[in-house]
Amino acid sequence: MSFPRVLAPVLLALGALWMSGCAPKTTDSSTLRIGEFASLTGKEAAFGQSSHKGTLLAIEELNAAGGVLGKKIELLSEDNQSKPGESATIAKKLIARDKVVALLGEVASSRSLEAAPVAQAAKIPMVSPASTNPKVTETGDYIFRVCFIDPFQGTALAKFAQSHLKARRVAVLTSVSSAYSVGLSKYFHEQFLQDGGVIVADQKYSESDKDFNAQLTAIRAAAPEAIFVPGYYTEVALIARQARALGLTVPLFGGDGWEAPELLTIGGDAVEGCFYSTHYSPDTPTEAVQTFVKKFRAKFSGETPDAMAALGYDSALVLADAIRRAGSLDPAKIRDALATTHGFEGVTGRTDIDAHRNASKPAVILEVKNGKFAFVESVAP
Ligand code: PHE
Repeated sequence: MSFPRVLAPVLLALGALWMSGCAPKTTDSSTLRIGEFASLTGKEAAFGQSSHKGTLLAIEELNAAGGVLGKKIELLSEDNQSKPGESATIAKKLIARDKVVALLGEVASSRSLEAAPVAQAAKIPMVSPASTNPKVTETGDYIFRVCFIDPFQGTALAKFAQSHLKARRVAVLTSVSSAYSVGLSKYFHEQFLQDGGVIVADQKYSESDKDFNAQLTAIRAAAPEAIFVPGYYTEVALIARQARALGLTVPLFGGDGWEAPELLTIGGDAVEGCFYSTHYSPDTPTEAVQTFVKKFRAKFSGETPDAMAALGYDSALVLADAIRRAGSLDPAKIRDALATTHGFEGVTGRTDIDAHRNASKPAVILEVKNGKFAFVESVAP
């Protein structure tokens, strides 16, 4: 029997698809598969690259020590290119095609929020290293994180503005297309107003915007003592430059989304004397942090690990610890073990998973000083 001619190209195309890796990978029962989705390229590549490197280092160490439950960990990493709309598809692929027992990801809250319903519906545990928006773990009982959440970060920043910056009149510039920015802005507002502060200008932008002159002109007219920008480094660096060009000299400050080398390389002088909160500082003199920094530098040609690298590292270790305690690769059992994580000492501090599947950890505030990130203070949870 021969196939109708018209079908031949279709069959060829299907064959090519199969060969190109869309086929299920053969299951090797000697390994344990963990899926990772990250922004390895695109607008927030610094986030994905860092968390991925931290995760890789953790998995390399776990495997060198014999793996988990007698199996080597196989990390399947997928790039969502920092784009909206990719993470749910990737999560589906990792779960259905690759049969991962758990997912690690993402840094950005909006992208974690896209994948979380997929993981929840499939009952596959997902651990976000760094997403701080509360809604991420509210998606359901299979969704965890190993970092603090934005009600804490927003409160810490509001208090910092008044105590350290002595700013009572603040302007806010929020990205309306980022769940992270909207949430952090809201929690900041609540605490800052409660403490008697005044928001003299409340301006908005969207992810990937490049021209902030209209918003900054309105902000300049309101004469704030500081400008709060709860955004990601790509836009923050441009906002800082355009603010300085308009003659705004007051400090800018923001949250963990500022953290990337690009803040300094693109922001340059414009970000000098600006402040942001984050999860960890490589200068922390504890043995755990210093050993991690040394190992990371050795593996990644001298690069100093930032907060995402540290959280990526801790997220993999917390997950491996849960799998070990579960004594099984059954995702439901891994979920239960994650939920009872208590006193896990990592490089970002101690992880205790609470009833809402969040971790409560200190924040650190850093200042851009002489083109570097300098430690200012630590804020207890
Ligand atoms: N907390 C940010 C978010 O939820 C992501 C982030 C974490 C960015 C840590 C930098 C460092 O979107």
